[in-house]
Amino acid sequence: MPCLWRTSDLAALLIWGVFVAESSCMNGNQTSQIGSLPETEVNTTLFVQMGAKALLDCPALPMTKTILIMWVIAPRGQFPCRIIYRAETTETNETNCTDKRITWESTRDQSPDLLINAVALDHDGLYSCEIVTAKGNFLRRQDLQVLVPPAITLLPGKNRTIVCEAIAGKPAAQIFWIPDGNHVTKQESHSNDTVTVRSTYLWEQNNVSVVFCFVSHPTGNQTLSIELNQGSYPGGYGQHKLKPMCYKNKDEKLVG
Ligand SMILES: *[C@@H]1O[C@H](CO)[C@@H](O)[C@H](O)[C@H]1NC(C)=O
Ligand SMILES: *[C@@H]1O[C@H](CO)[C@@H](O)[C@H](O)[C@H]1NC(C)=O
Ligand SMILES: *[C@@H]1O[C@H](CO)[C@@H](O)[C@H](O)[C@H]1NC(C)=O
Ligand SMILES: *[C@@H]1O[C@H](CO)[C@@H](O)[C@H](O)[C@H]1NC(C)=O
Ligand SMILES: *[C@@H]1O[C@H](CO)[C@@H](O)[C@H](O)[C@H]1NC(C)=O
Ligand SMILES: *[C@@H]1O[C@H](CO)[C@@H](O)[C@H](O)[C@H]1NC(C)=O
Ligand SMILES: *[C@@H]1O[C@H](CO)[C@@H](O)[C@H](O)[C@H]1NC(C)=O
Ligand SMILES: *[C@@H]1O[C@H](CO)[C@@H](O)[C@H](O)[C@H]1NC(C)=O
Repeated sequence: MPCLWRTSDLAALLIWGVFVAESSCMNGNQTSQIGSLPETEVNTTLFVQMGAKALLDCPALPMTKTILIMWVIAPRGQFPCRIIYRAETTETNETNCTDKRITWESTRDQSPDLLINAVALDHDGLYSCEIVTAKGNFLRRQDLQVLVPPAITLLPGKNRTIVCEAIAGKPAAQIFWIPDGNHVTKQESHSNDTVTVRSTYLWEQNNVSVVFCFVSHPTGNQTLSIELNQGSYPGGYGQHKLKPMCYKNKDEKLVG
């Protein structure tokens, strides 16, 4: 008898794109003890650019009365905060929750989602929500990863080199050179988890007139170019100019 609900709930769960972990229909114990009910668990990663809005959703099981909602907010390197909402009494208990930038998306009964209007670097971390219903529990862990676009520069260095920098990006940017050539790339990590990547390109063949630095990053790719005036710099740089170009992929032809 207690197994009858499973079929329809399974269909409902599949609509949410999740899988029921393990059927425990073998014994008739499902409705006797809330704590031991089968739990559906989902882990996801959420990438949000700094300053953008983040919606931390916690999809409730449809057609099922929510008994309790619990959020555990654990920003990396900080104490976790816990919010417990009991539907019956509409009582909310918060422990260690001091970040006023994190709010309910709407009223708890309608949606147990949380909202961050402008994501900051210190919001990076793990957000888990658990919904307890009479028919089962639902647990979703979301790893919120805050993305920061790096600042890009391309400048001549000493001794026939060109230096391309992707400053304070998160995660670290990747730098490619076109034409590919002799280069050394180093990374410097900052205390706020951003990374500066610096690539030094050795200018060996003096017959190339333009070099491109292609910076690949999840917030968007960028290309800078440096033009070297052949005649005017035997051993030196002479004139150069920087110009950003539209270049979506490092293997793509130039379009700008
Ligand atoms: C209910 O669960 C308990 C332990 O979890 C088990 O000993 C018992 O046999 C179960 N009852 C049924 C009807 O399967
Ligand atoms: C989700 O992540 C937790 C801890 O990071 C892990 O213990 C658990 O097995 C994961 N669950 C799934 C379904 O991947
Ligand atoms: C709440 O924060 C304090 C420190 O401010 C910490 O000692 C305590 O363990 C935290 N409680 C929970 C439930 O995380
Ligand atoms: C909230 O905490 C208080 C005191 O710690 C407790 O009496 C109350 O039952 C709690 N309410 C909920 C909804 O957990
Ligand atoms: C540039 O080359 C000169 C001579 O080869 C050397 O002394 C100097 O250390 C080099 N500078 C850099 C920054 O590599
Ligand atoms: C992170 O730290 C670096 C180095 O101190 C700084 O340049 C950068 O502006 C910081 N980024 C943010 C988003 O605070
Ligand atoms: C530059 O010279 C090298 C050999 O010195 C040659 O292999 C290469 O094709 C030349 N590149 C261009 C763009 O002329
Ligand atoms: C950025 O470049 C990488 C590597 O070439 C590529 O895989 C990715 O699709 C590019 N992203 C965008 C938004 O064009």
